[in-house]
Amino acid sequence: MFDLQKALSEVAVALHDKMDELLPRANGASSNVISLAGGEAQPETTSVGGEGRVMEAMRYSALSGGKRLRPFLTVSCAALFGVSREASLATAAAMEFLHTYSLIHDDLPAMDDDDLRRGQPSCHIKFGEAAAILAGDALQALAFQILADPDVHRDPSVRCDLIRAVAKAAGCKGMVGGQMLDLEAENKELAVDEIIRLQRLKTGEMFAISCEAGAILGKAPPALRTALHRYAHDIGLAFQITDDLLDVEGTREETGKEVGKDKVKGKASLVTAMGVENAREHARALANQAEAHLMPFDKRANSLRDLARYVITRRS
Ligand code: IPE
Ligand code: IPE
Ligand code: MG
Ligand code: MG
Ligand code: MG
Repeated sequence: MFDLQKALSEVAVALHDKMDELLPRANGASSNVISLAGGEAQPETTSVGGEGRVMEAMRYSALSGGKRLRPFLTVSCAALFGVSREASLATAAAMEFLHTYSLIHDDLPAMDDDDLRRGQPSCHIKFGEAAAILAGDALQALAFQILADPDVHRDPSVRCDLIRAVAKAAGCKGMVGGQMLDLEAENKELAVDEIIRLQRLKTGEMFAISCEAGAILGKAPPALRTALHRYAHDIGLAFQITDDLLDVEGTREETGKEVGKDKVKGKASLVTAMGVENAREHARALANQAEAHLMPFDKRANSLRDLARYVITRRS
């Protein structure tokens, strides 16, 4: 029988190695990003002081664990279309770097002002605000550098398609836009449809592109690419509802972050708008709807089906 926890941890281990290889090192050893590009070796400047600090901050946050769900989606969706493991892991690493950047910035005093992330001090607590901002910026840049590399796909038009879609999902019409709405919604009452839009942008878009990336790399037929986009959008929203439920019902130990903060900050969420039980029910309905989008796929999409269950039952 398919074991989701085993599959998640296999991807997490492979991803860790890939990210370790792609991240720059503060001691001056070059990352592999540059040598990936068409084989032309370029010297990198040594970075013991100065910029070494931002590199340490990047590594600290990116290699600190986490569930690695977005990479799992990329790898699982890519596998449906026969994409090589090497290409899907590099793409998955880029997605996780973007996610890490979003978390570093999300925790800053100007945003959620959270001191704990993944069970350890947030990036700005450990390295200071300036280095944390820059580490986020550099992780975002690194993600696009990776996606532009021929090792991700030898056809430049596929790479452009991928980069365009990822940039859109990460930008002001995606995650960044959602984060802006989220901050503006503090201490404001929002209608349910406004909260859904906010959460689909801040969380759903990055889930969606993590899945779609696999379809883009595999040159999937448009109908299958759309099916995965819809699946991921639904689990993204279900995932965020569960995150908001865990903020109410979870513990610091389980989640690795402070809980009860959304209430203090007056964050509008489906939990505040609908109440705990209705929000839980809505997450369940979304997970079912997500599974229905997988209809065109046979049992090879079983890992994605199991993941839809996992995002609403998780405790961390
Ligand atoms: C946290 O994401 C941010 C949200 C979108 C709620 P995750 O819960 O996936 O964080 P990690 O990567 O597992 O730490
Ligand atoms: C963060 O949502 C979403 C992004 C980082 C895009 P939250 O603010 O709810 O995430 P946590 O609870 O801090 O992980
Ligand atoms: Mg936030
Ligand atoms: Mg937050
Ligand atoms: Mg949260």
